[in-house]
This record gives sequence, structure tokens and C-alpha cells, in this order.
Amino acid sequence: MLSELEASTLARVEKTQTQDELEAIRVEVLGRKGTLAGISREMGKLPPTERADLGKQLNAAKQTLEAALEARKAEFESVALAKRLDGEWVDLTIPSPGVRLGSLHPITQIQMEIEDLFRSLGFAVLDGPEVETEYHNFDALNIPADHPARDMQDTFWLEGGNLLRTHTSPVQVRGMERFEPPLRMIAPGRVFRNETVDASHEHTFYQLEGMMIDRHVSVGNLIYFMKTLLTAIFHKEVTVRLRPGYFPFVEPGFELDIRCLICGGTGCAVCKQSGWVELLPCGLVNPKVLRMSGIDPEKWNGFAFGLGLTRLVMMRYGIDDIRWLQSGDLRFLRQF
Ligand code: DAH
Repeated sequence: MLSELEASTLARVEKTQTQDELEAIRVEVLGRKGTLAGISREMGKLPPTERADLGKQLNAAKQTLEAALEARKAEFESVALAKRLDGEWVDLTIPSPGVRLGSLHPITQIQMEIEDLFRSLGFAVLDGPEVETEYHNFDALNIPADHPARDMQDTFWLEGGNLLRTHTSPVQVRGMERFEPPLRMIAPGRVFRNETVDASHEHTFYQLEGMMIDRHVSVGNLIYFMKTLLTAIFHKEVTVRLRPGYFPFVEPGFELDIRCLICGGTGCAVCKQSGWVELLPCGLVNPKVLRMSGIDPEKWNGFAFGLGLTRLVMMRYGIDDIRWLQSGDLRFLRQF
């Protein structure tokens, strides 16, 4: 009878399809209230000799069945594991999609383009400190302490009398101090003004200064270089006009306007219906400025200009809010 039970149980175990079925058989046969436990209980009624014999058989059957259950369970587990590993499989030989490369900020891109252009025209690219002396930022540019022109540039003063440069013009001074004329230089860089920030004002923005000192430099030379510059930037012939403009370090000084590239001159929001956009202050270097930096104005003269790089980028790409440029917002930056 025991051997029959053993054989039929083994057969059932063999046929199980799930762990639950297997568990049900275990409970039914080997459980506390299972078949074997029932037989064991009945054993008490037998005479001692038979009892010992049956006890041995019971134990043997129990061990055989337990082993079979255990083996079947292990099979289920290995199938489950194989299935899981299959799902988690990773092909390490597939080529990676590659790192996502960043891109240069649009201001950097324009700056590099202009640097290339001016290098090809024989200009040196100079750098200057962002923390400047009052002398280089103002006095040496013919803007002494009591001069009202200082009010045009709201300045971040630092303790000890230095300041955050309000324009790139002090690099003109540093260039003249360092090099002998003839001299051709540009100086791109970051400048700072104590402005209330809104769509068209930033406390931090970019300019590109230029200066050429030689013999007999004329307004004609100035216009030629400015037109070359603007044609390269906008990739088309631009129409320019000069208006008088006041800057203490140039004489005469000009505001150079370009015919509006958005409307072609008929009038639109960008040019405030005037057909012209103010882009480039410039002029012939004031002899006083040359003299202060040790250059003899009887022998040499030159022109200078101060290009608003930030403004230029906004014009070129039609950016209507200056705050985008330093927002660090990748949705903005990825467009360039
Ligand atoms: N530095 C002036 C400013 O930021 C701009 C400027 C005007 C620069 C005339 C020049 C120049 O070199 O000739 O307002």
C-alpha cells in the first residue's frame, strides 16, 4: 500500500506544471494532516514489531517523496531563472548611440567668426581684465572723474577703487601701452553695467572692440572696415549710414546704423519704424587718448569701434529677449 502511494505520488509530481500544483501535492501527502501523517498516526495501533517495520518504510517513503518534490521544485526554479535572465539580457556588442555633443554659444560663434575675419585683415586679438582700473576704463579714454560721460555707464565699483569694466574700450588703452604703432587690434569680451534687467537690458553682456592706428587713417578707411565686417557677419551687402555720436575717446565720433535687415528699410518693430538700426559706435581716435598712451598724434592717427556682440547675435537670429542668452536653458541653446 505504501509503495503504491509512493509510485502514484511520484508520477503526479512528474506531471506538475506549476509550483502551486507541486505545493498542493506536498501538503496533501507530506503535510501535517497529510496521508503519511495519517498512516503514522494509525501505526500506534499495531504491535511493536510491525510498528518498527512500518516506521522504517514510512521514513523511506517520506525521504523519497521529499527528494522528488525538491528536485521538481529546483527544475521550476531554474526555468524561472532562465526566463528572467532572458528578459534582462543586454547585448554588449551593440554600438553605443554616442555621447551627445554640446555646441558653442551663439555669442561665442559670432565672436570666433569676427576674430577670423579680422585676423585675415592683419588685426591681433587681444584680451583684457574684467576687473579694471578706473584709469583704464575711464581716465585714459578721456573720461575724467568729473566728466558727465561717466553717467552714461552705470558702473559696478569694487572696494579699493577698481571696477567691473563697463566696456571693452580699456583694452584699446592696454594695446597702445603694450605695442608700438602701427597697430591693429580687436578685443572681444564680457562687460558689466549696473542695469535693471529686462527684455533688452542685461547687467552682463558682450562687446567687441576694434582699433587701428597708422598714418593718415581716414573716415573712408573706417567705413571700409565696418562694411567689410558687417557684410561678413550678415552674409550680404548691408547699407550703412553715419550719424554724429558722442564718445569722449573719439573725435569725430559716429553712430553707424545699418538699413534694417528685417524689413529692408520700410519700417518694422525691430527698427522702430525708422528703417535703420543703430549697431556700431565708432570714430577717429581722439588725439588726447593717443597722447595719454604715449603715441604721438602728430605722426599717428586711427579709428576705433565698439561692436555690441550681444545685440548683433539678437539681430542675426531674431532673438527678442536678451535674457535667453544667459538663461542656460538647453531648449534655447540647442538651436545653435
Ligand atoms: N565703449 C563704448 C560703449 O560701450 C562704445 C564705443 C564707442 C567704442 C565708440 C568705441 C568707439 O571704440 O570708438 O558705449
